[in-house]
Amino acid sequence: MEVLVTGGSGQLGRTLVPALQAAGHDVRQMSRRGAGPGGVRGDLATGRDLAQAVRGAEVVVHAASDPRGNPWEVDVAGTRRLVQALDRGRLRHLVYVSIVGVDRVPFGYYRAKYAAEQVLLASGLPVTLARVTQFHPFVDEMLTTARRGPVLIVPMGWTAAPVDVGEAAGFLTELAGGQPTGDVVEFGGPEDLSAGDLARAWAAAREPGVRVVSTPLPGKLSAAFREGGVLPGARAARGRRTYGEHLRGV
Ligand SMILES: NC(=O)c1ccc[n+]([C@@H]2O[C@H](COP(=O)([O-])OP(=O)(O)OC[C@H]3O[C@@H](n4cnc5c(N)ncnc54)[C@H](OP(=O)(O)O)[C@@H]3O)[C@@H](O)[C@H]2O)c1
Repeated sequence: MEVLVTGGSGQLGRTLVPALQAAGHDVRQMSRRGAGPGGVRGDLATGRDLAQAVRGAEVVVHAASDPRGNPWEVDVAGTRRLVQALDRGRLRHLVYVSIVGVDRVPFGYYRAKYAAEQVLLASGLPVTLARVTQFHPFVDEMLTTARRGPVLIVPMGWTAAPVDVGEAAGFLTELAGGQPTGDVVEFGGPEDLSAGDLARAWAAAREPGVRVVSTPLPGKLSAAFREGGVLPGARAARGRRTYGEHLRGV
């Protein structure tokens, strides 16, 4: 099928595009610059070049996002622009890449992702909302940023089930080739781990000598992370590759 990946230049997109190609699809990938193989230009924040980018798409995997910039403009209003630009007669399936817990965790970016999900559910398009947990390199990035010299302070009791990017791409590829569910499906990593466990594994592999300290963090956001807000539900599909294997590069 003719597949368009939005966010094709991103961390997920770079793995997802080859996975979709390997599954036999004809893949284009959109980003603001349209760089890379099969790259087309399209800007969700302004709508510029969007009509051209989506032309002919039978399947869209919508993975573009702006977590550090303006997610209300890119993820929410941008999703609305995408919905308007798509050819309804031709589109068979739109898979939206969301995050496990966007409906539970009171975090601004998650609220925007949840709002984008609502835009899609209200659109009448054939959609599947694929909520995925944190990618392994994202966890690395968080821990690298949190480290202060020889000490790494992490919130006590937070839990997560980080996932391999390649396995997430495989899951999304399978979804994209299937029927829309009109609902949420979840995909997470194989293990539910505390922030302390993740940090100790990371420190041992990447920064031996760094001491991990778990400290209680007050507030509603912290409570949501402690209560398993970003853990996949019982019916979620799970990957196999552990965070430890990612750290060891196996
Ligand atoms: N990272 C995680 O741990 C994680 C976990 C679960 C789910 N997710 C979800 O998975 C998706 C992909 O995440 P990622 O980590 O791969 O993101 P990423 O590396 O930050 O990539 C974001 C992508 O969005 C594109 N983009 C940003 N602003 C845009 C705009 N105005 N118009 C068009 N494209 C725009 C970027 O392209 P240019 O900047 O090149 O234009 C890039 O290709 C996101 O929806 C995210 O919420 C991420």
